[in-house]
Amino acid sequence: MSEAPVLRVENFSKQFTLHEQGKRIPSSHNVSLSVYSGQLTALIGPTGAGKTTVLKGIYRTYLPGSGRILYRTQAGHEIDLAQADEHRMLALRRMEIGYVTQFLHALPRQATEDVVAQPLLHKGISKTDAQYQAREMLAAMNLPQRLWGISPSTFSGGEKQRVNLARGLVSRPRLLLLDEPTASLDQYTMERVIRLIEKLKTEGVAMLAIFHQKELVDRVANNVVTLEPPPAEEYALEETA
Ligand SMILES: Nc1ncnc2c1ncn2[C@@H]1O[C@H](COP(=O)(O)OP(=O)(O)OP(=O)(O)O)[C@@H](O)[C@H]1O
Ligand SMILES: [Mg+2]
Repeated sequence: MSEAPVLRVENFSKQFTLHEQGKRIPSSHNVSLSVYSGQLTALIGPTGAGKTTVLKGIYRTYLPGSGRILYRTQAGHEIDLAQADEHRMLALRRMEIGYVTQFLHALPRQATEDVVAQPLLHKGISKTDAQYQAREMLAAMNLPQRLWGISPSTFSGGEKQRVNLARGLVSRPRLLLLDEPTASLDQYTMERVIRLIEKLKTEGVAMLAIFHQKELVDRVANNVVTLEPPPAEEYALEETA
């Protein structure tokens, strides 16, 4: 591979401090990985190994731990997301980095098609275009049209996941982070999502995705990174400060 990666994570570690109990909880431990344009890197490993924490560290939902998170921007600059200021992070989230979380957080009064169109509006796309693309993506996700005008807050798990995916995929970010995107989908919808992921690859999107099903990893991953749970002695450390 001669092209430079879009994202390079070097020795990322993160631990949480529970101040009230004076305890440290180790999470991601020494994670290194690369994600390339037009390719999908799969992040696998047992429950509690710190997979979601890696994605949240990249997206900066969590404060940075140690290590470097080097992202190559559209403009060609390499920046360390672990050091970037909030303003920069907000701009990157709006224009370049997308994140499909495991669970959808939507406002109870917002119609599904508006939830999906929102990232496009934030990117500066006109309302008409955003609405058109949102509907196309909802149709591609096989979400029944009768649900488009109502809020997803009362949807079933699989329906919510389709809305969440539609919202993440519609804006075609340069780097897309996916946390178990197909966990509650039926086989038919899962096939559609796989095809969409393949299409995004041909468009050059770089993806980092957490999967639990090996079959899926074999089908869509170009690279596989396996996380191990933190070593046992890490858990024994009590906070001293
Ligand atoms: N905000 C937090 N505060 C305290 N501990 C946390 C926090 N977030 C994650 N952890 C801990 O970090 C560890 C790794 O969590 P993480 O969610 O990254 O695991 P995972 O590999 O995604 O697991 P799963 O496959 O079950 O989703 C867990 O022990 C978890 O309890
Ligand atoms: Mg997780």
